[in-house]
Amino acid sequence: MMQDKVLDNIVDPSIFPAQKGPPHASFDHWRQGDPVHWNPVNPEYTTPVPNSTGVSGFWVLTRYQDVLDVSMDQERFSSHEAGIVLWDWTEEHLEFQRANFMMMKPDDHKAVKKVVMPPFMPRNLKAMAPQIDKLAAEIIDSIASKGECEFVFEVASRLPVYTFCELMGIPEGLREKVAEYGNGISDVETRADHSADPMMGLIQIATELAEEKRRNPDDRLMSAMVNDTTLKLDPMQIAQFFIVFAMAGHETTRSTGAHFIDLMNRYPEQYELLRSDFDAHIDNAIDEVLRFTSTTTNFCRNTMEDTMVGDVELKKGAKVYLSYAAANRDPSVFEDPHKLDITRNNAKRHLAFGVGPHVCVGAQLAKMQLRALLKEIVTRIPDIRPSREPEWMPSIWFNAILNMPVSFTPENKS
Ligand code: HEM
Repeated sequence: MMQDKVLDNIVDPSIFPAQKGPPHASFDHWRQGDPVHWNPVNPEYTTPVPNSTGVSGFWVLTRYQDVLDVSMDQERFSSHEAGIVLWDWTEEHLEFQRANFMMMKPDDHKAVKKVVMPPFMPRNLKAMAPQIDKLAAEIIDSIASKGECEFVFEVASRLPVYTFCELMGIPEGLREKVAEYGNGISDVETRADHSADPMMGLIQIATELAEEKRRNPDDRLMSAMVNDTTLKLDPMQIAQFFIVFAMAGHETTRSTGAHFIDLMNRYPEQYELLRSDFDAHIDNAIDEVLRFTSTTTNFCRNTMEDTMVGDVELKKGAKVYLSYAAANRDPSVFEDPHKLDITRNNAKRHLAFGVGPHVCVGAQLAKMQLRALLKEIVTRIPDIRPSREPEWMPSIWFNAILNMPVSFTPENKS
């Protein structure tokens, strides 16, 4: 699925659908001769994202080491100054966004991270594992006898949403509402028809949940935030964290699950290998699929001073595009990088979860979910396959499958 043309501009939401993934031919070309590549404004791109004024020109980093070095250096390459996505925000929205965990000043970020991290520590994740296994089994129960379903929304998106409910301590009765709003809010670029404003819906759930956890504390993330006595987060900050977590773990995990099934169909010998010894191969296979697909293809930083990346001088205030997709196919780190190989010995070095102070806090949780879901699939409906070409999401950010009808031999439970 390589595309052979080097592009003039990667700000074009039709690229991923057209070639079923990121523009790797362009990234490869630039990495060789122009690894810090200037991408100009695309005058034809009209942003569908609320509160954005568009996308200005930016520097694309395609080498693994550059993406890593810049990600580690928050002093010179800020997440706080102008945001972490390609879109430029209005001044008012930028101010609002800066209170978001992913865009805080380094010291504030460190302090908040202490409060939100405990539920993600290995001991607590281990305690959540049986519940995640149970949720995965329930999801496959709901489709296994049917012989077909639409994989992205009926299967892949439900586990991250249910897991998010577990993580926050949201009662089971609200799960489907959270799923609806979560799907709505993840459609940042394709905000289609949603019966209710997903952002307002989530803020309302967050506010009510916060009240409940103040009255009845427990060991879940919402309780940790509202009952923390060190930072005294205000209700708006708490609602914002809630939304960050609702978004960050959703589209990403959902798409990786869908990619996994799509890739096992495209590379049947890899699937055979996985099935020959699931427990031996699954962890590395998940890392390899994360590397290969890089669902979150990029985040951005802004330069705080005139500075060099490689041989190129970037002026203060420049936007830098960290291409995780390109870094994950850098041949100086990954041999034969365009090959999917679930036994690759350094697959774990991928940057699909970012790296540095803002590295994904949910990485282990995402992997646990994928493992649980794939175990159910491989043992119960192993001949699952897309029944037609999957449909990619138009996006300049996510390498995401939007729709993937699948069929399989119905499970016989008698
Ligand atoms: C396959 C699944 C996932 C992928 C590919 C992914 C990707 C990423 C990436 C690339 C970043 C780095 C952001 C940056 O450097 O600016 C990030 C950060 C983050 N992710 Fe994930 N993520 C996934 C799953 C999750 C899950 C399950 C959760 C939580 C439930 C989560 C919560 C977060 C949070 C809160 C941050 C911000 C960390 C910070 O700014 O310190 N992610 N993720």
